[in-house]
Amino acid sequence: MQHIRLTLIGFGVVGQGFVELLANKQQYLQQRYDTRLTLVGLANAHHGFIYRADGLDISLLLQLAKDGRSLIEHPEAVHGKTALEGLQATDADILIEASPTNLRDAQPALSHIHIALSKNMHVVTANKGPGALAANQLFELARQHGVQLRMESSVMAGTPVISTIREGMMGANITSIRGILNGTTNYILSAMVSGRDYEEVLADAQAQGYAETDPTADVEGYDAVAKTMILAALVFNHPLRVEQVERQGITAITREQVQAAIDAGNRIKLIASLRQVPGSDELIASVKPLILPLSDPLARVDGTLNAISIQSDTLSEVTIIGPGAGRIETAQGLLADVLACIR
Ligand code: HSE
Repeated sequence: MQHIRLTLIGFGVVGQGFVELLANKQQYLQQRYDTRLTLVGLANAHHGFIYRADGLDISLLLQLAKDGRSLIEHPEAVHGKTALEGLQATDADILIEASPTNLRDAQPALSHIHIALSKNMHVVTANKGPGALAANQLFELARQHGVQLRMESSVMAGTPVISTIREGMMGANITSIRGILNGTTNYILSAMVSGRDYEEVLADAQAQGYAETDPTADVEGYDAVAKTMILAALVFNHPLRVEQVERQGITAITREQVQAAIDAGNRIKLIASLRQVPGSDELIASVKPLILPLSDPLARVDGTLNAISIQSDTLSEVTIIGPGAGRIETAQGLLADVLACIR
């Protein structure tokens, strides 16, 4: 039996979902993969870092979070003031980075990932900042240290997009990608089709943990822009700066516009697009609401489902539809990446 030690940074919706999944699947993972995963380190922004070499008690951690109590109440755990300090001072095999996304400078996640890779730890992250803003630099650091950096759940949660394209479609020349990459806005647009009010639906998306800490990132299109930048770097090997992605959110879309689209047999969707200009290195990128006919597979993808359509020279069009946000859905992407690192 392999014994793998995990440190988790971030204990919000995604981090708690991950440890819950870990606890629920422990027996299955031991039987199926002959692997025992032990959470040894945990940090959040409020309480700092805790570490216990023999493993932290997941039920207790979830209860502390539910009761709004400090993680440092966990017995027999060493305590560090910050995640950075804790990471430096302790040891684990894989870092799971699930702190809130920051699309300005990707911090503090960027520093967490730097330290972990430099300490020869594999890194798995759901955070969109590092992949959008520093993918090349981080993958190079991982290569130098002979470890893996994986970020499946940063795009379409646990729905396997990055691994499908980078591993399953190896050798295909990808020419363009179109997708619905934000769960919150798709949830809002879908609910507007049934006549629900924008503010009420957004509040619902926040309550269910789909929306970002600051939902402006969702409704103004920045979250989808970040995912588009991750795909540009990972699929096209062509990192983009944020200003190179044309962006328009959904805040100006009215119920009348949604109804007019329905009457004409169409749907309005927030579409992310990446297109390689034939015969050049140039990549054209945008995130904006588009009117799609119902014959377009993306037009029928509703709620928090996301979808991506990939055009390539050998497979014409491949479309993947699946959950794009959510606690366990994102945790599944982290788990798949952890198991991929071990494999
Ligand atoms: N806020 C994001 C969304 C979460 O709604 O898609 C998943 O990245």
